[in-house]
Amino acid sequence: MRAAKPEDVEELKKLIYETIDSCCSGVYPCEAIDYFKEYRNTQNILNDILKGHCLILTCGRELIGTGTLLSSNARRIFVNPLYQKMGLGKRIMRGLEEKAIKEKVRIMDLDASLVAYSFYRALGYQTQSEEIIQVKNGQNLRYYKMVKKMVKNLGPRN
Ligand SMILES: CC(C)(COP(=O)(O)OP(=O)(O)OC[C@H]1O[C@@H](n2cnc3c(N)ncnc32)[C@H](O)[C@@H]1OP(=O)(O)O)[C@@H](O)C(=O)NCCC(=O)NCCS
Repeated sequence: MRAAKPEDVEELKKLIYETIDSCCSGVYPCEAIDYFKEYRNTQNILNDILKGHCLILTCGRELIGTGTLLSSNARRIFVNPLYQKMGLGKRIMRGLEEKAIKEKVRIMDLDASLVAYSFYRALGYQTQSEEIIQVKNGQNLRYYKMVKKMVKNLGPRN
């Protein structure tokens, strides 16, 4: 695992878009999928690489996972579908939580999509609220605001 560099931005975006397409189809309407992608445009990813703590996981030359911490907010956690359920998402989150603890963050927060909600629950995040954004064509995008209190022990399953 290493910190992302600005030159990783296009490959990161490709990983993110392909993962969204694979994991969200059938769960979210296509208008919500478009919204997810627009929110993760090149400029936003680049800003977070420069301002935040953006981690990437590689397998050989292939980029297979990523996650970013910006202040107390964990965002853009994605693992290539071929490598999911192998503990990699947890590894990325642990890296972000370690950074948060070093930065004296007391409570980490994140937005969880329907497809990632159980993952964050498994890592000890608690639901604060359910949110709905109206996207195009009157479609809804449902997600959860979640938080976790930071202590040195990173959670029940670590
Ligand atoms: C969510 C995601 C990051 C999880 O990564 P992962 O590498 O598969 O997760 P891990 O293998 O590290 O799993 C960690 C724990 O969470 C649990 N978990 C992971 N995904 C889960 C799921 N979909 N449902 C239930 N539990 C899940 C695992 O069982 C594991 O529990 P354990 O520690 O008791 O074994 C990954 O599935 C992903 O990128 N999903 C797509 C995200 C997305 O498209 N979001 C929408 C746009 S924002």
